Amino acid sequence: MNRRQFLSLGALALARPARAAPRISKLRPAPARQSLVGAANPDTAVWAYNGTVPGPELRFRQGERLRLEVENALGAGTTVHWHGVRLPNAMDGVPGVTQPPIAAKGGRFTYEFDLPDAGTYWYHPHLGNPEQVARGLYGALIVEEREPPAVDRDVVWVLSDWELDREARLDEEFANPMAASHDGRIGNTVTLNGAVPDSFGVRAGERIRLRLINASSARIYGLAFEGHAPTLIAFDGHPVAPHSGARVVLGPGMRADLLLDCTGKPGSEHRVIDGFYRRNAYELVKLKYRDESPLRQSFPPVRMLGTNPVALPDVAKAERQRIVFGGGAMGAMPSQAVHKGMFWTVNGKPVPEHAHEVLMNLKLGRSYVLELVNDTSWYHPIHLHGHVFRVLPGDRWGDTVLLEPKSRAEIAFVADNPGDWMLHCHILEHQASGMMALVRVA
Ligand code: C2O
Ligand code: CU
Repeated sequence: MNRRQFLSLGALALARPARAAPRISKLRPAPARQSLVGAANPDTAVWAYNGTVPGPELRFRQGERLRLEVENALGAGTTVHWHGVRLPNAMDGVPGVTQPPIAAKGGRFTYEFDLPDAGTYWYHPHLGNPEQVARGLYGALIVEEREPPAVDRDVVWVLSDWELDREARLDEEFANPMAASHDGRIGNTVTLNGAVPDSFGVRAGERIRLRLINASSARIYGLAFEGHAPTLIAFDGHPVAPHSGARVVLGPGMRADLLLDCTGKPGSEHRVIDGFYRRNAYELVKLKYRDESPLRQSFPPVRMLGTNPVALPDVAKAERQRIVFGGGAMGAMPSQAVHKGMFWTVNGKPVPEHAHEVLMNLKLGRSYVLELVNDTSWYHPIHLHGHVFRVLPGDRWGDTVLLEPKSRAEIAFVADNPGDWMLHCHILEHQASGMMALVRVA
């Protein structure tokens, strides 16, 4: 960096993101109560890590080792999956595949692994059934770059939704066949960091790194920041060439890192609109400018983040495989659908929750291109564990790819992490009703 660049950054007087201190060493999932819809309404009975939804924000620096003991205070078995992290198979938190469930009422398990990649990740239970996530078990896992970009604030927005009644009680029918065979359980109440937000206070001239995490079991978000042009700098944790677009679309499980330059006037208000479901657009939150003089008048250019040490697939020499997702309402549902609650298929077969059959064998160290075909009338965010992939064509990395109805996508990756890994739809009601498979890398 030359002196000029140094000075222009220095003028920002920007700090490194503050570390959460003291560092959290324990996660305790347990029933809790939380005010989701504001003080005028009753609290909601939830399940939470360490007493709050979302659970504690875990922050590490790239290359550090995560070590966390989970003490299960729920009345049900659980696990913790570290979504998007390239970790050893035994730490992946998939019950019946990588570990037995952590026993109800006092079971313990320690997760310990290195964090090779910087980025925005998250953690959640991984039972075949969507209940635990829908009750509130999830949290952010942030891995900071060794040289994070200069910003005034580093803020995480965990987005989720809930199906609540008038007394703010959660609807406990988590396996509703109607939802499972259509677009999943889409709640009537959206929360940002565990509460229905009114406004998000900002100062004119601030540059904010906004990390968005879609922790909903089924809802897809399409966010537009009125009057602003946030720059996308990372997707699913991994750097992208900085660019801004009309809206940020996030399927369940997906993350986006934005640099939000607060170019509004002191005292002004701007809406953040979620318009993914066109007839149901709503205001997620307001950006509310404080009546303070701007922190700065112009913003330095945005530079691309340093890339993570992910092996580049050799697309030309890669072995190709095709995976067809089928079924669902208005599609070819498997014949046992009606009595077994299996509405979706992978290569023609529904995979019941506990029958962990291997769909594909991949050779350790080889490059693969998977053609993912969505032969249904619904959206599916397809997630692969243990690896990150290129979404072809192009050079964005990801661990989840959102397939539009009746569409296809290609993903490419090096199968460099040995073990049995889940490949599934992250609409959790779809996963539980057939849309999942195991991929073996050996
Ligand atoms: Cu975020 Cu297989 O999960
Ligand atoms: Cu799906």
